[in-house]
Amino acid sequence: MVTPDTFFGGAPEVNASAPGRVNLLGEHTDYNDGFMLPVATPQGTLVAMSRSGDDHFHFYSPNLDQTVTFARDGNAPQGYGSYIEGCIRLVQAEGIEVPPLRIYVDTNLPVGSGLSSSAALEVATLRAMRALLGFELDDVRLAQIARRAEIEYAHVNCGIMDQMASSLADESNMLFIDARTLEHRLVPLPADTELIVIDSGVARTLAASKYNERRAECEEASRKLGVDALRDVADPDSVESLPSPLRERARHVVQENLRVLEAAQGVSAERFGELMNASHVSLRDDYEVSIPELDALCDALRAAPGVLGARLTGAGFGGACVALCRKGQGQEAAATALAAYNNVNGRQGRILVPVPTEQKG
Ligand code: GLA
Repeated sequence: MVTPDTFFGGAPEVNASAPGRVNLLGEHTDYNDGFMLPVATPQGTLVAMSRSGDDHFHFYSPNLDQTVTFARDGNAPQGYGSYIEGCIRLVQAEGIEVPPLRIYVDTNLPVGSGLSSSAALEVATLRAMRALLGFELDDVRLAQIARRAEIEYAHVNCGIMDQMASSLADESNMLFIDARTLEHRLVPLPADTELIVIDSGVARTLAASKYNERRAECEEASRKLGVDALRDVADPDSVESLPSPLRERARHVVQENLRVLEAAQGVSAERFGELMNASHVSLRDDYEVSIPELDALCDALRAAPGVLGARLTGAGFGGACVALCRKGQGQEAAATALAAYNNVNGRQGRILVPVPTEQKG
């Protein structure tokens, strides 16, 4: 294993970090120009960076024990290096001179659980570049560049939520985001609550193809309704005239936006929990992005002491569920839910938040 000391031959010039995100409400709304309420994860990604002093870029990830090297004008092979290269090339496209760099990436974010480890990597890389090179792109601009890196270099057709959350959210507040205007503000979590996040242990294999299918369905629904995006549907009942499954897809997006707008005004913890439960039902029945394991995990969470509401978080088809819980009861509720979930068919979930003691550095 290469340490930062051996990789840089001493200390790096700069260090930066960025968190992942857990979305509490507003799923599959960002690419419909809608609203969402993510929080930052306690886990994050650290990027250490120096000028390389030669004609090559050099990246190293201790998590993968993998080195990536390519020439000043070359390309990184597909993999974690693509996200970093995307950030570098897009900063260059802003007219900023970027010399060849040495970059060491370390993360304690679980990869593949739907907590946006990729957004954390992009934002941490951009923050480190900003610290090293002294350019003045603000946090919203960084999120936009990070998203373009994901789309153009990692070929993932995402919305803006994950990068906005990684760049602007914190752990104790939700970040209200308007995906059209990128207006954003911090909204406190309901009083006396805490979050639980449990990975279902199911890989998100179908996520990419179904994600693109859902995006296309939403575009088609907007066309039929004569609006630029589903965010612009003024009368929620108008979606009922659409043919199936566009009707159900549009219904989810329209209702989900209303849930976010209600929650962002500040509601009781109990009401917030109800909105989360309603969001899950809508994702399961209308948007059809849940799977039996995520449904079972949400049921197990809802049955645990102190839990006010639970839903799948992220794109769906695997990954994690999030629950809102009364303060002080998260640890116990998560353990109870996990024990119930893991009892069936060899399922292997794991608690991500509250961060298990053995994972705290
Ligand atoms: C993924 C995408 C986001 C968003 C969610 C669903 O996480 O990266 O942009 O669309 O799915 O809400």
